[in-house]
Amino acid sequence: MRTRPFGRLGHEVSELALGTWGLSGDGYGPVAEAEVDRVLDRALELGITLFETADVYGRGAMEKKLGARLAGASVRIVTKIGTLRAEASDGPEPAADKRFDPASLGRAFEASRERLGRDKLDVVLLHNPSEQVLRDRDAAYFLQQLVTEGKLEAWGVSAGSHDVAHRAIALGADVVELAYNPFASRDLHRLSDELAVAPTALLARSVLAHGLLTGHWGPERVFEEGDHRALRWKPNELRHRLRQLDALRPLVGGEVLSLRAAALRFALANALVTSVVLGPRRVRQLDELVREAGPGPRYLPDTALADLSTRLKRYGIAP
Ligand SMILES: NC(=O)c1ccc[n+]([C@@H]2O[C@H](COP(=O)([O-])OP(=O)(O)OC[C@H]3O[C@@H](n4cnc5c(N)ncnc54)[C@H](OP(=O)(O)O)[C@@H]3O)[C@@H](O)[C@H]2O)c1
Repeated sequence: MRTRPFGRLGHEVSELALGTWGLSGDGYGPVAEAEVDRVLDRALELGITLFETADVYGRGAMEKKLGARLAGASVRIVTKIGTLRAEASDGPEPAADKRFDPASLGRAFEASRERLGRDKLDVVLLHNPSEQVLRDRDAAYFLQQLVTEGKLEAWGVSAGSHDVAHRAIALGADVVELAYNPFASRDLHRLSDELAVAPTALLARSVLAHGLLTGHWGPERVFEEGDHRALRWKPNELRHRLRQLDALRPLVGGEVLSLRAAALRFALANALVTSVVLGPRRVRQLDELVREAGPGPRYLPDTALADLSTRLKRYGIAP
């Protein structure tokens, strides 16, 4: 497992991180507890040293699980606070049920500390705050204070838009998390100049566009109840998105064996990305992703990337 420097913190983390939203059962439907345990154990075996979660995933159950299963392992856990209950989609829109006032954040932080079983937490992010929350500064200041007091190693923001991420970087966030894939790359690309000079670590999530970019789905794919994708794409929209995958097919070739590998390597190929937050729901999926990340730079041939934006435009994608 290759590693990259974790922003200003000075230590290295694995360039692949394990995200746990899918494993929690929220968002994509239930996962058997034994499989969750196997995925976590396998992630450790494979050398993953960064785990990503949120206090609301499984209503706290995922933090508890990570606290117990990873106890004693030399890994970092990123958690997120500021949401009172799980959102249907964990999407980019800040939901109404958000609490970023210092009193609520204080209670959430203590609850996370308890569930994770650690006196000092590694990384805490504000979970999809609005831009206004960051303009007000109280929430960011609250987390900064925890760092100053030694209760927290690093703070940051999981951002649903360019503007939120931009403001987080300006406030000196240690870590910013953002969606990044060939169909949704504009936010990160617009932040490139800032990120190149800021000591902010960048976590790239949703690198498979929630599974769409694997290219495994047929046009009639139906999502079960409880799967956020049923709300995200109506059948017509899904068929349209699937046709747009043709824009990515030229990335496949040589040692890039599949669309899934191409999408994963697209994120890894960006040197501004500290770690790619994977979302496997089974051990098999995790193994495939780690294998397909490949042996390291170059992740994708420059020639394959060079005309990607033209091709995306041709397919009506404004990434
Ligand atoms: N606001 C936030 O902070 C935020 C928002 C979203 C996500 N995240 C974090 O980022 C992680 C990843 O995000 P995401 O769920 O949006 O991710 P994603 O990586 O784009 O998609 C995950 C989905 O892709 C499919 N998949 C995964 N590995 C596969 C494989 N090897 N082969 C085929 N299909 C595969 C699975 O769907 P199937 O069920 O179809 O197999 C899985 O549910 C989450 O777990 C979460 O921890 C954070």
